[in-house]
Amino acid sequence: MTALGGAAGYYYHNSEKSIKKDIPQKEKAIDYEKIYKEIADMLEDEDYDDGSYGPVLFRLSWHCSGTYDKKTDTGGSNGATMRFLPESGHGANKGLDVARNLLDKVHAKHPEISYGDLWTLGGVCAVQEMGGPTIPWRPGREDALTAKQCTPDGRLPDGMKKQDHIREIFYRMGFNDQEIVALVGGHTVGRCHLDRSGFEGPWNEAPTIFDNEYFTALVEREWVKKQLPSGIWQWVAKENPDVMMLPAEIYMYNDKEFRKYFELYAKDQDKFFEDFAKAYKKLIELGVHFKDGDKEYKFKTVNV
Ligand code: HEM
Repeated sequence: MTALGGAAGYYYHNSEKSIKKDIPQKEKAIDYEKIYKEIADMLEDEDYDDGSYGPVLFRLSWHCSGTYDKKTDTGGSNGATMRFLPESGHGANKGLDVARNLLDKVHAKHPEISYGDLWTLGGVCAVQEMGGPTIPWRPGREDALTAKQCTPDGRLPDGMKKQDHIREIFYRMGFNDQEIVALVGGHTVGRCHLDRSGFEGPWNEAPTIFDNEYFTALVEREWVKKQLPSGIWQWVAKENPDVMMLPAEIYMYNDKEFRKYFELYAKDQDKFFEDFAKAYKKLIELGVHFKDGDKEYKFKTVNV
């Protein structure tokens, strides 16, 4: 009996050891499918904006990633440096505390997941649950422990500026013109808030549905300038002044190179979904140094 027990114990010990060697413990312990589902179940709230936290979660994933600078390999979702001042206080990040606070509730239940992984997973979940394409997602971001890695202000695009500025910002991350237009199509969901950016309103009448309506609206509608109480101006649709476009977007649309992609995505939603999924995956992986064996997940949409 004793000998047998000892042998079993030895065998058990050995097999534990080999499991530890082959499978990274962190990944084995975290149930990402469950976390995805918990986020999906939190999205709807009829008292918030247009009834969904999807757009603001999606925007958090973009702003935590879009600080990347390929020359210096700094910024990006690795580190989740928006947890710290000064980055959380940058003007472009106004209002994103709503998304961070919501995801903090998930983190409290799953403290093993890094904030960088959680915020990008939140974006993937939001896009899919609002009807967008499936985005393959990989874990592997490690949180910064201090504010030292915060990026300087000014790495995110300014909605008042012209297309040269937009190119400069996105080329710095490593994107080309087609990828930039596909990514800006993210504005098919969500809205601007006077008290956050100074702009006001959604880009179309269905701001919680991820489709190509951003592009059809831009191409088919007539846009007129409107002065805002915040002192800045934007474009609004002539027949429905509640929907808007940023000055930067109309500058982009009037650029010959950019325009061909706006027209392409207005005609072809499947092509938009395909190109958006690729560009957005690239965006949320900028600056992340994945280890060999980091698994890729494709989450099943829960609520559509
Ligand atoms: C030309 C580049 C871009 C500019 C100038 C820009 C600017 C803005 C501005 C001014 C707002 C309004 C913020 C507020 O008042 O709450 C906004 C919202 C938003 N942006 Fe962008 N953005 C750009 C690119 C992107 C990209 C690449 C994505 C995603 C891939 C994105 C996703 C969003 C979303 C989802 C919202 C709505 C957030 C909400 O409803 O709370 N944007 N953007």
